[in-house]
Amino acid sequence: MRIIEANDYKDMSRKAANIISAQVIMKPDSVLGLATGSTPIGLYEQLVEWYKKGDLDFSKISTVNLDEYKGLDRENDQSYYYFMHDHLFNHVNIRPECTNVPNGMEPDAEKECRRYEALIDSLGGADLQLLGLGHNGHIGFNEPAPVFEKMTHCVDLTESTIEANKRFFASADEVPKQAYTMGIGTIMKAKKILVVVSGEDKAEIVAKAFSGDVTPEVPASILQMHQDVTVVADKAALSKL
Ligand code: GLP
Repeated sequence: MRIIEANDYKDMSRKAANIISAQVIMKPDSVLGLATGSTPIGLYEQLVEWYKKGDLDFSKISTVNLDEYKGLDRENDQSYYYFMHDHLFNHVNIRPECTNVPNGMEPDAEKECRRYEALIDSLGGADLQLLGLGHNGHIGFNEPAPVFEKMTHCVDLTESTIEANKRFFASADEVPKQAYTMGIGTIMKAKKILVVVSGEDKAEIVAKAFSGDVTPEVPASILQMHQDVTVVADKAALSKL
C-alpha cells in the first residue's frame, strides 16, 4: 500500500486527479470504477478543468460506479446517477452509453445485483477503482459486517451512514435505508485501487483501516491485502497513522 500525503483537500484532489489522468493517458480505453461522496468532488473538478484545457480525452473510457441508493430515481438530485452527471459526465466527452451506475429504481434486488456484477465482468473489471472512506470504514456501501460480502448486493444502511448522509437530505427520514453496492470481492478484483481521504474526522478510521487488523468489521482494512493500492490523504486524515 502506497500512502501519499497531501497538504490539504485541494492538494489531495490534484494528486489523486493526476493518478487518474495518468491512467487515462496510459490506457485510453480504461474502465474506471468511480465513487461518490463529498471527498472526490475536488478531484472530479480538477479532471474537468484539465479536460477543458485539452489535456484529457474520455472518448474511449468506460465507467462503473460503486453504488446507488435503492429507491431514488435518476432525476433525484441525491441519487449517485445525478451526482456523477453533475460533477463529471456532463462536462467531459465520455460516451453516455459507457457510463454505468447501479439502477436504484430496480425493485428486484437480486436481478439488479446479478445484472451489475455481470456487466462489470463483461467489461473485464475496473482498471482503476476510486474509493472514498466512510467513518465506520465502509467502502462503497459495504458496511461493517461479520463477513466480507463478495459480490454486488443490496445493503441496509447503518444508522451512522444514514446520520452522515442526512446533511444532503431535508431530514434523516428522507435518507434511503437501502442501497446497491459493489461487493468487497468486486472492489478487490480491480487492477488498481485509489483511495482518497480528507479531514481530521477520518484520522481514526484511517489508522484502523490501514494499520489495524484486517477484519470485515472495518471493511476498508481488506485493502491492505490488495497488490496495488494508493491512498492519497491530507495531513489531517493521516494524523493518527
Ligand atoms: C457514502 C458513499 C461512499 C463514500 C462515503 C464517504 O456513504 N457510499 O462511497 O466513500 O459516503 O463519504 P464522504 O466522502 O462524503 O465522507
